[in-house]
Amino acid sequence: MFPAQWLLQPQLFADGAECWRCPLGKNGFPGRPVRTEWYGTGSPRLALVGELPGRREVQLSRPFVGPSGRLLDFTCGQAGIARSGMMIMNAGACGPVPSGADEMKEAVIAACRPRLLAELRRYRPEVILAVGAHALRVLAPELTSGITAFRGALLPVGEDVKTLDWTPKLIATFHPAYILRGGDAETLEHSD
Ligand code: URA
Repeated sequence: MFPAQWLLQPQLFADGAECWRCPLGKNGFPGRPVRTEWYGTGSPRLALVGELPGRREVQLSRPFVGPSGRLLDFTCGQAGIARSGMMIMNAGACGPVPSGADEMKEAVIAACRPRLLAELRRYRPEVILAVGAHALRVLAPELTSGITAFRGALLPVGEDVKTLDWTPKLIATFHPAYILRGGDAETLEHSD
């Protein structure tokens, strides 16, 4: 029998999230889910996949609305891409994970991978933009280098991501949080 709080997450379960494997789900407390944002009808051309919702995202129950989201909106605006024109989602649906708890982050993302893949297969975006190394790793486990090696390239999605009739293009860029922390990648991200 699932703990009562988990029963509040029917969509996560329907899409295969394995909350019992997730550190945020242990003790029956599933973190707080931030649902995928897509206001269009049918399939989006572009799906952006981040890592995990932060504190602000969890408060407002929307992905990428905190400091990383503001930088992302600015960068997308400069590239002429409206936020409303893409699907915005995260590798892990729930948060927040304390900063610096990297093992926990990995475990949350791993337990949520079936949910991420199920959602992507349901919406079938043409292009997936992996934002940050965690997102790239879950979408293309066969690639072993980091973002720097793959920026700007069209990448193959993982064998277990695509389906017989859906093979999205995959591209990757730095996570805005990395740039906000003072990573030296700002110019590169803008050129992506
Ligand atoms: N960082 C992410 O990866 N996703 C969010 O939704 C917010 C910050």
